[in-house]
Amino acid sequence: MTTDQQPADSQPADDLRPSGPFRLGDRVQLTGPKGRMHTVTLRENGELHTHHGVLKHENIVGQPDGSVVTNSGGHEYLALRPLLRDFVMSMPRGAAIVYPKDAAQILAQADIFPGATVVEAGVGSGALSLWLLRAIGPAGRLVSFERREEFAQVAEANVETFFGEYPTTWSVVVGDLVAELPTALAPASVDRVVLDMLAPWECLDVVADALTPGGVVICYVATATQLSRVAEYLRGTGLYTEPEASETMVRGWHVEGLAVRPDHRMVAHTGFLITARRLAPGAVPPDVRKRALKKPSYADDDVEAWTPGAVGDRQITDKNLRKRVREAQRAVDGARIASRAATDDADDAAGAQAGSGGVVD
Ligand SMILES: C[S@@+](CC[C@H](N)C(=O)[O-])C[C@H]1O[C@@H](n2cnc3c(N)ncnc32)[C@H](O)[C@@H]1O
Repeated sequence: MTTDQQPADSQPADDLRPSGPFRLGDRVQLTGPKGRMHTVTLRENGELHTHHGVLKHENIVGQPDGSVVTNSGGHEYLALRPLLRDFVMSMPRGAAIVYPKDAAQILAQADIFPGATVVEAGVGSGALSLWLLRAIGPAGRLVSFERREEFAQVAEANVETFFGEYPTTWSVVVGDLVAELPTALAPASVDRVVLDMLAPWECLDVVADALTPGGVVICYVATATQLSRVAEYLRGTGLYTEPEASETMVRGWHVEGLAVRPDHRMVAHTGFLITARRLAPGAVPPDVRKRALKKPSYADDDVEAWTPGAVGDRQITDKNLRKRVREAQRAVDGARIASRAATDDADDAAGAQAGSGGVVD
């Protein structure tokens, strides 16, 4: 028995746990000869063809996660369900994604909790949406805003591919957060807001209206100049607590025998996080009074410094973006076909069982 008196082997009612023997419709990461990786969605009569031979999906279905399977040429593959971090790093991208190391910090620093009402903008490729959806759980609500329709399409396809269905806890609003947030959600009704965009300061007034007192806003920005602008804007509103900023560096280690040392290479910089909390209406904490700015920190000329080109934000070409939309669409089509096949299979099995009087060996 577990501490909450559930039998240790009990499953959640919706059976969404990514564990147990492989089933039709599951995504499987196969690591084959020379460490080459392939990701397949298990289908009826599906096959993985490589120059090493053919691996039939039916040889994987029913095996426990973490099994070794063999193809027609006798080559072995390690079969594992991809973790969320594997999935986000390999899914089709319209816009740059939030890396797992930063997503983990966002969940912690923004205090994303099961049942929370969370607003996110922009949705980009949907990487952060996936982490947020998992963290809010079945009782939460995530409303994601994205001003580019094609990005929203890529994100929705990625999220549906990962979960195997479109989450009932998620809605995507296509449009600018500043224009859409006031009509999409009631004032003071949002627990947490996560902004990953070029100019988050433009949104901080509508975010202040949407946030419940004590609610958290977190911004993910790529450059120090953006970080500074967000901090000054937050302070200038007088509506938030003193902001806290950080960056997260994760250095991998090589640990083998006596060769125990940091990896030679690492992702040195992705972005900064800056967090603040919504004050109650009319509240003026003592340190804010002391820090009141005598003059605006930024003049109109400074705005040029925040343009996409100036902060090094590379724009995806229309042609490339259409390609990513097609890729994401193909992946979700595959996932839908496989999930239908899995449902049909389960129905057939249930029918057969009912036909045999429901007797189970
Ligand atoms: C870097 S991407 C977000 C990536 C996303 N967090 C992920 O992990 O996949 C930034 C996105 O913000 C969108 N965006 C920028 N400003 C916006 C705004 N004011 N309202 C809605 N979306 C916005 C852009 O179109 C872009 O898709």
